[in-house]
Amino acid sequence: MNTTINPSNPCSSNDPDLMWTEELSLGISIIDNDHKVIFELAQLIQNLLDAPSKHVMTESALAILEDNVFFHFIREENAMNKVRYPNKSIHIYNHKQFYARLHSIVQSYNGDSKMAIFDLPHLVVGWFAKHIAAEDSKYKKWIKENDLDGRPLGFLTEEATR
Ligand SMILES: [Fe+2]
Repeated sequence: MNTTINPSNPCSSNDPDLMWTEELSLGISIIDNDHKVIFELAQLIQNLLDAPSKHVMTESALAILEDNVFFHFIREENAMNKVRYPNKSIHIYNHKQFYARLHSIVQSYNGDSKMAIFDLPHLVVGWFAKHIAAEDSKYKKWIKENDLDGRPLGFLTEEATR
């Protein structure tokens, strides 16, 4: 694995394949920031995979990742509804498929299958990179910064139904 040392924390390393890059920017800062956090959580989980004794930390990081993905999707979907985005059905379907997959992997890890997450960071980043390019890029003509609920993700729970 090709890694670089993170100067702010020399105990951890960054896998360049898991890093958010400017070419993934949609130019909508609220959405870009959500994506950046998800990529950083994937990196954190990758680093925890290299420290197998840290199960409690890993479980917490997975729960945070799951919540961030879930509420990020809610944020996008609320904005799609607000602007009556015409392709929202397929977009929301793709969100639900991915969230179900992520949830199932995390459930397996929290059961007794610790190997279930061995490739999760790359799966998450790979899915988001493709989704941003193929799906999110289509709504950027429709959704503007002020169509989005910019509150921290945890505040979106009121409208959410799992
Ligand atoms: Fe999306």
